[in-house]
Order: sequence, then C-alpha cells, then structure tokens
Amino acid sequence: MLAAQVNVFGRPETVIEIVEQADPGEPGADEVIIEAEFVPINPADILNLEGKYGAVPPILPMIPGAEGVGRIAKTGSAVRHVKLGDRVLLPGPGCWRECIKAPAKVVFALPGDVDPKQLAMLRVNPPTAYLMLHQIAAPKPGQWVIQNAANSGVGHCLIRLARLAGVKTVNVVRREELVAPLRAFGGDVVLTDGPDLDARVRAAICEAALPLAIDAVGGSGTQRLARCVSDGGTVVNYGMLSGEPCIVDGRETVFRDVRLQGFWLRKWFVDTPPAQIADLYRELTSKVANGTLAVEVEAVYPIRKIKEAVAHAARNGRSGKILVSFARE
Ligand SMILES: NC(=O)c1ccc[n+]([C@@H]2O[C@H](COP(=O)([O-])OP(=O)(O)OC[C@H]3O[C@@H](n4cnc5c(N)ncnc54)[C@H](OP(=O)(O)O)[C@@H]3O)[C@@H](O)[C@H]2O)c1
Repeated sequence: MLAAQVNVFGRPETVIEIVEQADPGEPGADEVIIEAEFVPINPADILNLEGKYGAVPPILPMIPGAEGVGRIAKTGSAVRHVKLGDRVLLPGPGCWRECIKAPAKVVFALPGDVDPKQLAMLRVNPPTAYLMLHQIAAPKPGQWVIQNAANSGVGHCLIRLARLAGVKTVNVVRREELVAPLRAFGGDVVLTDGPDLDARVRAAICEAALPLAIDAVGGSGTQRLARCVSDGGTVVNYGMLSGEPCIVDGRETVFRDVRLQGFWLRKWFVDTPPAQIADLYRELTSKVANGTLAVEVEAVYPIRKIKEAVAHAARNGRSGKILVSFARE
C-alpha cells in the first residue's frame, strides 16, 4: 500500500515522500481494516512536517495526518457495530496511508449518503469550534463572540454553530474580498484586521457584551482581539498561524481582567470519557449531513501528488481546503 511519509523535518513539499509499505494484514478479533478515501491537509499537518507542532517532537519517520474518512474493508470476528463497506472516520494520527488497522471501538458508522469530502473534515475542526464556543466562556444567546482567521475551516464551523446557539459573530479576516462571502455564509459582522479593530468592533456591535474571543493567529493578533472583549472576558488561543507568541498588554489583563487561555483538541480527547466524545460526534455528524457544517474544498489531489497537495495547502489566500484522494486508479 502507498503512504506519505516524512523522514526528516523541513520544507513540507520537500520532505514529504510517497513510500510503499506492507499491507496491514488481517484484523485481530476486535480490530477493523479501513481503506482511506479522503484526508484533508490541515495547518497542523504543515507544522508537523516542519517539526514545529505540539509540545513533544514526534518520532521519525512519521506518517502525518490527524483525520480523514474511509470504508471498512475487513472486520475482526468479534466486531458487531460496523460492517464491511461502512464509512467511518479515520483514527489519527497517521492517516495519510491507503489502509489502516485500528481497534474497532474507535470507529462508528457514518451516514452513507453524506459527501465524504465533508466527512473527511469532521474529526478535528467542528469539535474544536464547538468546544471553544460552549465550554470556555460560553456566550449567552444574544451576546457576541469574535474570531480571527474567520475564513478558515474552524471559522466556518464557528459561524454556523454560534448562529444555532443564538450567539452573534464578529469575524476578522485579512483580505477585503472575504467580507461579502462570509456575510453570505452567516457571519453577523465581518471586518478586516487592523490597528483600529477594537473601535470598529464596538461601533458594529453597539457596545454589546462580547465575553469571548477566539484566536488562531497569535502575535499582535491576540492583542487586537483582547482589546475587543468586554471586561473580564476571555481570549482563547488555539492556533499559531503567525508563528509569533501571543501578545496581550497589561492594560487588558491587569486593568480589565481579560484572561488568555489555550485550547488543544487532543487534550480533550484524552480527558473526555469515550461516550461523551461519541455523543458530540453524533451531533456534529448530523450537522454535516444537513449542510449546517460545510467547508469549501479548493482542490483534491491523488495521493501520488502529495508534494503538490502539500505545497498548495501551505499557500495563503486559498478559497478552501486541500484534500487528498485515495481513489484506486
Ligand atoms: N488547538 C486545536 O486543537 C486546533 C484544532 C483545529 C485547528 N487548529 C488550528 O486552527 C487554525 C485554523 O485551522 P483550519 O484547518 O481551520 O485552517 P484552514 O481552513 O486551512 O485555513 C487557514 C486560515 O488561516 C488564515 N491565516 C493563515 N496565516 C495567517 C496569518 N498569519 N494571519 C491571519 N490569518 C492567517 C488563512 O487566511 P487566508 O485565507 O487569508 O490565507 C485561512 O483563513 C490553525 O492554526 C490550526 O492549527 C487548532
């Protein structure tokens, strides 16, 4: 089977290689074999290829990929809850390979009639948006939340999930041409970033309560969001898109009691009982199925073109996600 592998960290499209690996063989009694269909290339994958992701350096060689979708190709003798042909989420990490052997308890059958490309993006970004919205400062219906990098996959999920919860969104982007499409997608206010962001936000929301800011950028981007939240509000940093450490001025933390905290989905997976994780995925799957959660796809590359796919995913100014397909040619 084919896999995409990294032997050394560096420039993503240079270090990623296609390798031939042994098939995973037969499943044990409580295992399944999954044939991958689609995987997205996320910013975390790019950081991973550069050796910049997370607190613990991963071991090389490494097969990247935190998520994707595939079909059950074989089941172990004791497996009852999924069957041959069922579509399931790929259990990461290590999803960029044609076949994956996994414990059956980590997979569940997805609806068969939902776009698999959308399902390939279900595992990471939708729960990230959901948990940051509902489990940290939890704005009440009628209140506002602000986010930067609002045209990202997470950003799109947050817009739709906030709308469902009756929470209004201020969406900050760095390109003027994104304002109209994000308004059409459901963003209540869409603004370009800049030094006077806080004044423009206050004017746009008429000084209403804004208890939560969601920051994927870091650096001075964090500070610009911190200036927008209400006194006692929270800035949640969950991304490192600028590559800079978060800056928050003492005027916000000391005099206005604004707090900065982090969010990492992987920690939630570790800390949360499996039944609760399954409940959230059931809820989010239904929202992908009915089109509430939807993320644009800019291009789909076959796995053999992984270098082009990774280079494309690392580019700024995309109109959507880059996916990799494992369709057998
Ligand atoms: N902590 C967690 O558990 C967790 C979970 C999921 C995702 N994340 C993080 O969430 C962020 C978004 O992920 P995604 O998959 O939703 O992204 P995505 O769909 O691939 O989109 C990337 C977005 O980042 C924007 N961007 C890139 N560099 C930027 C910069 N320096 N300043 C402002 N905007 C910048 C891009 O804007 P343009 O279109 O203008 O280029 C684009 O909107 C990433 O940092 C990712 O690592 C974290």
